Amino acid sequence: MQFEIFLVSASYVSNRKFAALAETLVAAKETPCDVVRLEHQGDHMFNALDRALANGATRVVLRPIGIPFSQSLRKWVPNAAADWLTRQPAHQVKLAIAADLDEDQELLKLVANRPYRAEQIAPKIDGMNGKGWDEPPVYEHHLLVCTGPRCHMRGSFGLLEPLKAAVQQAGLGSKCLIASTGCLFPCNNGPVVVHYPKGDWYQLNSEQDVAKFVDDVLIHQRTSPLRLPFAPTPAEPSPEKAMLHANE
Ligand code: FES
Repeated sequence: MQFEIFLVSASYVSNRKFAALAETLVAAKETPCDVVRLEHQGDHMFNALDRALANGATRVVLRPIGIPFSQSLRKWVPNAAADWLTRQPAHQVKLAIAADLDEDQELLKLVANRPYRAEQIAPKIDGMNGKGWDEPPVYEHHLLVCTGPRCHMRGSFGLLEPLKAAVQQAGLGSKCLIASTGCLFPCNNGPVVVHYPKGDWYQLNSEQDVAKFVDDVLIHQRTSPLRLPFAPTPAEPSPEKAMLHANE
């Protein structure tokens, strides 16, 4: 049985909007399918692949949706899926990835010429400024939680809310600014969290890790075994590099 998994890459989309899109796609599709996000929140592709297999899929097609779709994700997703394949019993399932939608000239023609609803925009002074967007909030700890695609597929989507809850529970809600970010680069060590002002990196894999991180790092300010062995960032430049910059 063939199963299709729609892949959505859109960080700034609320869970509600994504759920509505997923519901519409599943209802419109006449054959078995699933819809997952590649970043930020929500379930990830590996779980969707596991579910497809559990439901008897013998062939799964990954279908990137979005025009245009991220070129770096288009390159990486087949490799991540191939990695998943190595963990399945031999030849149990075939995997494929569909071509990007922007290769479909007919679809682009359809999009360009479809009737649409439009809302009038009236002049608004300071329309681009928002309430409370003038200054950074006052805080002691700044946590950057990577929800980029590779950390997402390693489970970061399950950490953000527990982290916020644990910080609140520790009474540090007003002292801690938590921001979800795109890729921070050490993806192979994900899901990663960076703690400023110290600039230390951590790998948090579970809610237990989140609780330990809050206890070790934020409450007791001691070294945690969850810390990754990276130099704190920003790193001190080497003497050679410092010299180079001085001469620039
Ligand atoms: S996706 Fe998190 S470090 Fe790259």
